[in-house]
Amino acid sequence: MTPSKLKDFHDRLAADDDGFWLEEAHKRLDWIDPPTTAGDWSFDEDDFHIRWFADGTLNLSANCIDRHLDTRGDQAAIVFEGDEPGEGYEVSYRTLHEEVCRFANVLKSRGVKKGDRVTIYMPMIPEAAYAMLACARIGAIHSVVFGGFSPDSLSGRITDCESTVLVTADSGSRGGKHIPLKANADTALEHCPDVHSVILVRRTGDEIPVVEGRDIWWHDVRDTVDADCPPEPMAAEDPLFILYTSGSTGKPKGVLHTTGGYLLWVTMTYDMLFGPEDGGKVEDDLFWCTADVGWITGHSYVVSGPLSNGATTVMFDGVPNYPDPGRFWETSKRLGVTIFYTAPTAIRALMREGDDWVTKHDRSQLRLLGTVGEPINPEAWNWYSNVVGEGRCPVVDTWWQTETGGVLIAPVPGAVETKPGSATRPLPGVHPQLVDSEGKVLEGAAEGNLCITASWPGQMRTVYGDHERFFQTYFSTYPGKYFTGDGCRRDEDGYYWITGRVDDVINVSGHRMGTAEVESALVAHPKVAEAAVVGMPHELKGQGIYAYVTLNAGEADSDGLREELRQWVRKEIGPIATPDALQFAPALPKTRSGKIMRRILRKIAEGQPDQVGDTSTLADPAVVEDLKRNALV
Ligand code: WTA
Repeated sequence: MTPSKLKDFHDRLAADDDGFWLEEAHKRLDWIDPPTTAGDWSFDEDDFHIRWFADGTLNLSANCIDRHLDTRGDQAAIVFEGDEPGEGYEVSYRTLHEEVCRFANVLKSRGVKKGDRVTIYMPMIPEAAYAMLACARIGAIHSVVFGGFSPDSLSGRITDCESTVLVTADSGSRGGKHIPLKANADTALEHCPDVHSVILVRRTGDEIPVVEGRDIWWHDVRDTVDADCPPEPMAAEDPLFILYTSGSTGKPKGVLHTTGGYLLWVTMTYDMLFGPEDGGKVEDDLFWCTADVGWITGHSYVVSGPLSNGATTVMFDGVPNYPDPGRFWETSKRLGVTIFYTAPTAIRALMREGDDWVTKHDRSQLRLLGTVGEPINPEAWNWYSNVVGEGRCPVVDTWWQTETGGVLIAPVPGAVETKPGSATRPLPGVHPQLVDSEGKVLEGAAEGNLCITASWPGQMRTVYGDHERFFQTYFSTYPGKYFTGDGCRRDEDGYYWITGRVDDVINVSGHRMGTAEVESALVAHPKVAEAAVVGMPHELKGQGIYAYVTLNAGEADSDGLREELRQWVRKEIGPIATPDALQFAPALPKTRSGKIMRRILRKIAEGQPDQVGDTSTLADPAVVEDLKRNALV
């Protein structure tokens, strides 16, 4: 986009923001009833509400599929690439339409209606997208649970949203290893008596038990239902999906997004950041976002954003270093990928393997590179830009969250100059603000807590089943503002540099983990009395998990027990939650009122024990000396 075109967006917004949003909504989406109102919201406690395009009706799957059939029916919508290089196929828009309609009809045949919740626990295969789009087609609310989560995590998420249907596969295949999805699902379902139907997709062919009456194979029922299913008219504010994400406290929250605003936001941001250059065509690009559909990035930029724009999107069911660290570039070349979007953790891991793995593959077809999920250090940014992108490809560092639906801060290619390590400037319609811990607004160059002062269409609407928690979590810390939980610096050019979470959320390889979740998994172990978990710097993962564990009286610590506890957490939550460091602590540093002083634990885990600060308010300051002596970093 040219700088003047971007300026035009900002000018139109400044002149008449409601008019701007309505115009964009009408232009970019197909409505059944076009909306006549845009934003209607207040972040104040006594009038708290968020609505966008409230009198409009539309259907997301019709926007992602049906409206392209006349012009791009034979174009690939999805290019699937499996775990083994070259194991894949293309799905045209026409085929996508048929598969999604059939999937929708199978869901209907199992009694799924508008508003019902369907949990999806799948590998990164096209059927995962069919299931998501099929839900949207009939107005069911999907909840995708990442395939790396444990049976316990899965059952907790099924129970929280009262799903009655689960979509899963026999097993997944990642880096040559099989992941027992159906076996995990069976264990999870022991605690979910209300799930009456399991739709099973065959992926690996592994032998699995099938429960008569409950489990049905997709390939058995696919041909028994109609190949057409009319899209359900949905009000713009009807729920679209729930996605569980970790917060500072308690159990993961069910972030709820609605139909119209979310779809507009992902459609518009995809186009601004990854769409064709002026005069170019969307079908000339091949877009590869490496995220899993178990995370928000997969929802917004593997499925809805690209498909709504009529683009071709890659679904990759593998890992960056299998069969070797050249996989991304070998596959990009073979498939003809022009836009590549991944996480800094993958870039750092590949950077360590050396340039040869990159340079041996021709990358001349790549034109744009993106990153998402965590702060990118300038060294990794420069390597991505110079070695992968040959200094030719703009690097688009996109800052956003599950809660924001789509990107909020990022350089629009061609229009905003980049700086390595900065997500640069807010997109049109995004109003960031920095505040200090007392809530005082910081102007100009400053560092503070990142808030957003005005609603945007893609904003989450509630925490499923707990609207009060939604308000408390995001709008009570700094009244009248959405608080992101991130720290941020703004430089003298008005560029934003995200510094990381300022709350009790750890960002491990771009995946959010709540310290409270890991703590509660640890204390569930019979030998553990108490646990406190903090983030630690980690060269590859960005942040690692550092756990302090106090054992029950009479229990002896040992390396064996340390490993047992690490595996325990892995089993309870999933591999991404495995503590990187686990220190046995006879006691934790507490104030006289019994509150754990996390600041001290963080400093020790960061390898800065001399900066723990004032410990005089502790009930027993001697505890700190022991912690420092036995620190693992
Ligand atoms: C972090 C992922 C720095 C941030 C889309 C945020 C980032 C959390 C960036 C959300 C970025 C995401 N630079 N930090 N470009 N992108 N983050 O919900 O801490 O999985 O709050 O959404 O990731 O993670 P989530």
